[in-house]
Amino acid sequence: MSTLSIATAAEVFDLLRDDLAAIEQDFSRQSDSKVEVITDIARYLIAGGGKRIRPLLLLLSAKALGCTSESRIRLGAVVEMLHTATLVHDDIIDEADTRRGRPSSNTTWGNAKCVLAGDWLYMQSFSTALEERNFRVLELLISLTQQMVEGELLQIQKLGHLINEEEYFDLIFRKTACLFKVSMQLGAAITHAGEEMESQLGEYGRNLGLAFQIVDDVLDLTAAEDILGKPVASDLREGKATLAVIHALERGTGADREAIRTVLADRSFARVSHPEILEILHRHGSIDYAMDTACAYAEAARLTIADLPDSDAKRALLWVPGFVTTRDR
Ligand code: IPE
Ligand code: IPE
Ligand code: MG
Ligand code: MG
Repeated sequence: MSTLSIATAAEVFDLLRDDLAAIEQDFSRQSDSKVEVITDIARYLIAGGGKRIRPLLLLLSAKALGCTSESRIRLGAVVEMLHTATLVHDDIIDEADTRRGRPSSNTTWGNAKCVLAGDWLYMQSFSTALEERNFRVLELLISLTQQMVEGELLQIQKLGHLINEEEYFDLIFRKTACLFKVSMQLGAAITHAGEEMESQLGEYGRNLGLAFQIVDDVLDLTAAEDILGKPVASDLREGKATLAVIHALERGTGADREAIRTVLADRSFARVSHPEILEILHRHGSIDYAMDTACAYAEAARLTIADLPDSDAKRALLWVPGFVTTRDR
């Protein structure tokens, strides 16, 4: 049994500070287009901050395998660029008006320009990835993109409908956990670590990504907008049933179910208020259920890397799951 201690947040940022700064620079440089509006939108999003969790995972995966090449910086920028592109598109689809504590890009530049800027950023991330001359890298990124697009489309098809847990997990894998998984797999791909290692690290990313989106969905229900930096209670207003809501639908009284169904069908809190929904969720322990589920996935992530050789990167990978489940934004 390993006695390796979990890193502290300060240790993780000490370990990654220089690499994260290099990724930030690379991302900025990659966002330079001859068409000013593209650069403006990209710069605006970069300046808004963000947790940078996907490049962090890529760096830790690469470091755990002893990678010292520039590839880790390049691909760190790739996964953050790709994530940024999906945020631009997601905010158009969700009609969201805030992101990272500021007006969302679609609010500032309009949908048409943002769709195109998102496409440009997406392709810029692929063009950067191409510099690796590594087919596995491209394979991972292409199937990721298809999964993410399928996830967003399936989600649109299910809006306003009651979905079951299986459908929920399929959706959140595609739209979120798949990129976490690929961020980890890319670390293995650039170190040519072999299939088994790639799949083990990928499994860590999958579990962590599922935990991450479950927490995102809980925060959407329970957080305050000024802390979260994006709209709250938006999932129900968009007709999205997330894990806590699915739990309450299965356990609630007839009246509880009717109240939730009303909000999902109306896509508004006009007839049933947000506090009323929260009361139902708390009464059935649905928020706790969702958080317990997220914590179980976070723990599963830790277990998947138990037999990696001890290193600072591994200690940091043991820290990330706790960060994901205790975050407030
Ligand atoms: C937001 O991702 C989109 C989801 C998958 C929930 P993050 O919560 O990582 O967003 P930033 O990058 O920190 O703003
Ligand atoms: C994340 O889902 C989808 C993406 C892959 C961008 P959400 O729609 O819940 O993300 P937020 O809450 O807007 O960040
Ligand atoms: Mg959204
Ligand atoms: Mg959300």
